[in-house]
Amino acid sequence: MIYGERLCLRAAEREDIPRFVAWLNDPEVGQFLSMRYPMSQAAEEHWYENMLNSPKAEQVLVIQIRDGEVWRPIGNTSFMNVDWPNRSAEIGIFIGEKSCWNQGHGRETMRVMVKHGLETLNLHRIFLRVFEHNLRGIKAYEHAGFQHEGRMRQAQYQDGRYYDVLVMSVLEEEYIQS
Ligand SMILES: CC(C)(COP(=O)(O)OP(=O)(O)OC[C@H]1O[C@@H](n2cnc3c(N)ncnc32)[C@H](O)[C@@H]1OP(=O)(O)O)[C@@H](O)C(=O)NCCC(=O)NCCS
Repeated sequence: MIYGERLCLRAAEREDIPRFVAWLNDPEVGQFLSMRYPMSQAAEEHWYENMLNSPKAEQVLVIQIRDGEVWRPIGNTSFMNVDWPNRSAEIGIFIGEKSCWNQGHGRETMRVMVKHGLETLNLHRIFLRVFEHNLRGIKAYEHAGFQHEGRMRQAQYQDGRYYDVLVMSVLEEEYIQS
């Protein structure tokens, strides 16, 4: 387990697959994840088996918050495209339980993952891509210490128009100074 103040991150289990399918098929969640097609249980099972063969640093972690005496799963996070020579990695996140949005869990998850990435995995740079209209995500990442780094113009086609994709990152020295 990786513990934050109010949440913990654990490895994803096969039993989580139905919950992932439900979250990803929710249009309000999927709109910011480029979900263009409905997700089947079979496709998610296939993804899960492949994920188990991916490098340990890239395996998906389930975000859990305290619910009385038990931990309640609310979403996922993982590093992707880890580039060891450059000690750089991309990070992804989604909170599938919409009732848990806007309570600081996204910000805290990113802080915990940045700490894990820099202090445990010895990464130097962690970056993310976020659609320009994902104002909640952008704010959460700013709060977690991510800096605006660039803008991929009209890189995302959705609902009949193009959106820019913002690139944000945090560097080792910025994290140490914060
Ligand atoms: C994006 C996401 C991870 C953020 O997590 P979260 O727990 O909801 O975010 P937080 O509560 O940490 O921070 C959200 C901030 O955005 C603000 N916010 C919410 N809606 C906003 C809006 N329309 N405009 C501006 N700010 C907004 C909140 O007030 C909060 O800021 P505050 O702490 O200063 O009040 C989560 O909402 C999510 O998974 N959404 C669906 C999928 C997704 O977008 N994944 C990320 C793809 S890059």
